[in-house]
Amino acid sequence: MEQDRYLTFALGKGRLARKTMELFEKIGIPCKEMQDKETRKLIFVNEEAHMRFFLAKGPDVPTYVEYGAADIGVVGEDTVLEENRKIFEVLDLGFGRCRMCVCGPKEAAGLLQRRELIRVASKYPHIAKDYFYNKKHQTVEIIKLNGSIELAPIVGLSEVIVDIVETGSTLRENGLDVLEDVCPLSARMVVNPVSMKMEHERITKLIAALKEVLF
Ligand code: PRP
Repeated sequence: MEQDRYLTFALGKGRLARKTMELFEKIGIPCKEMQDKETRKLIFVNEEAHMRFFLAKGPDVPTYVEYGAADIGVVGEDTVLEENRKIFEVLDLGFGRCRMCVCGPKEAAGLLQRRELIRVASKYPHIAKDYFYNKKHQTVEIIKLNGSIELAPIVGLSEVIVDIVETGSTLRENGLDVLEDVCPLSARMVVNPVSMKMEHERITKLIAALKEVLF
């Protein structure tokens, strides 16, 4: 029989990758090399399963998958929505649950209700734009930031922010509130459309095995 080619996975670095590998271990695809906390390696191989895993920055995962450098990716739904790449979203992995929200000081709630022209700071300008323009029909100015988004309304850069809320402690400790919910988020498995055709059997088997341990 012809040897399977290696299936390549792009995993968002950090907790997402660790959680993914815990899940893969449960379905009999361990990757010992990756468990070494000291390692600076970026690519790990499971020779038996003919799979290789590489660690990438979260926002780059959909790019690797769209271009076929990875057949499969694991990344947060926030990144899938923000990057809007030509990829198939095939499975909700259930971990990394959090929410995308519009947040700000309580007083800003009225600005949202009256649909005023306000400034919105976010690490997710596309998600923010889609929410305000297409769902709320409110014209706003969107300001892209790269982190510590909660600072923006505190120092007067914007009236509100669109950001991820997990435990809510960053908001609480900075005197901000959730004003509106945009959407729920969690880790997703995404697949390159060509790989989905060429490796259909292996990928559907893998999804079925993951579903068994997830649900
Ligand atoms: C994320 C997010 C919030 C915080 C929410 O930031 O942007 O700031 O976590 O979590 P919480 O509700 O549990 O407090 P992250 O820590 O990724 O850093 P960043 O601000 O640099 O984006």
